[in-house]
Amino acid sequence: MDLLRDRDIDIGPLAGKRVAILGYGNQGRAQALNLKDSGIDVVVGLRGASGSARAAEEAGLEIALVEEATASADVIMFLAPDEALAGIYREVEARIRYGAAIGFSHGLTVHFGQIHPRHDLDVFMVAPKGPGVALRSLYERGKGMVGVWAVAQDASGKARDLALAYGKAIGCARAGLIASSFAEECEADLFNEGAVVWGAVPEILVAGFETLVEAGVSPELAYLECVGELKLLADLIEARGIAGMREAISNTAELGAALGGPRVVDEHVRQNMRQVLEDVRSGRFAEALRREAADGYPELEGARARSHSHQMERVFQDLKSLGGS
Ligand SMILES: NC(=O)c1ccc[n+]([C@@H]2O[C@H](COP(=O)([O-])OP(=O)(O)OC[C@H]3O[C@@H](n4cnc5c(N)ncnc54)[C@H](OP(=O)(O)O)[C@@H]3O)[C@@H](O)[C@H]2O)c1
Repeated sequence: MDLLRDRDIDIGPLAGKRVAILGYGNQGRAQALNLKDSGIDVVVGLRGASGSARAAEEAGLEIALVEEATASADVIMFLAPDEALAGIYREVEARIRYGAAIGFSHGLTVHFGQIHPRHDLDVFMVAPKGPGVALRSLYERGKGMVGVWAVAQDASGKARDLALAYGKAIGCARAGLIASSFAEECEADLFNEGAVVWGAVPEILVAGFETLVEAGVSPELAYLECVGELKLLADLIEARGIAGMREAISNTAELGAALGGPRVVDEHVRQNMRQVLEDVRSGRFAEALRREAADGYPELEGARARSHSHQMERVFQDLKSLGGS
């Protein structure tokens, strides 16, 4: 693994440069504040009448309209939702200084050709591997979050050094910056979201709950069993790895897992996973995201409504009020 840490990286390529952070959401807030605390000149670019302006100003950050921030900067970081980035790029492209650098925290828009950066620009990615709230709180505690970096276009011959300096300034190099490519980062990330942690795990929890309730188990007990133990599992895997987690549970639980797990996640499930990966690699998922945004998010609205109206939500609220989940 090609992993670099603070001591391997010179922050010099960012010194004296002005960074525009476009978007003040999950990543934008954390990255802007970390850059500022690392001594970098930062301006947050927001659309007119943005609800985030006050919060950014109260945090001591300079703010400007997206196009003004872009025109004033040497490095422009695109940190609005992925489905908005192509439109934002189109609007600001003419305002980007000749020879500037543009950066992303996810490879999707560049890898799938939704953005075709101008040829004079450096194009890099630093993708922290976790949410912005954690990126910020780790930084404040003198720690960092692992990040993935890549260069898609090296017009200046210095894009690599700039990407690494950026990764250091937001604190990722305290934990480690892993070299990748826009394609690899984006495909792995979208695959995980669709087929593993964010896609399959919640579906497994719901399916397990429904199976027990259908068999006559009380919803509360089904919830405690199928959902309530997830944090315990995550904590054990984080602390000890998967093999260590198995050793930490009872023989009964370990045998149940060894016999039952592979029956559920069988060849059919693996084949479904390959199909999700193929949807990602072919660009079908990126196109679905673009269409979803253009149509006003019908799939997402439907999925949210189904989750909220599921029996599990009532059980969750009841258990929460007891302090039991
Ligand atoms: N979320 C994560 O944990 C995470 C982790 C790693 C990488 N990433 C990547 O980081 C990037 C940013 O994701 P995010 O989750 O941080 O985004 P986000 O929180 O959804 O971004 C919200 C911000 O984007 C602004 N925005 C939305 N549409 C805009 C538009 N058309 N023009 C200008 N500004 C607009 C919003 O403006 P208003 O304030 O006006 O509403 C708000 O400030 C993405 O590429 C994502 O894949 C995210």
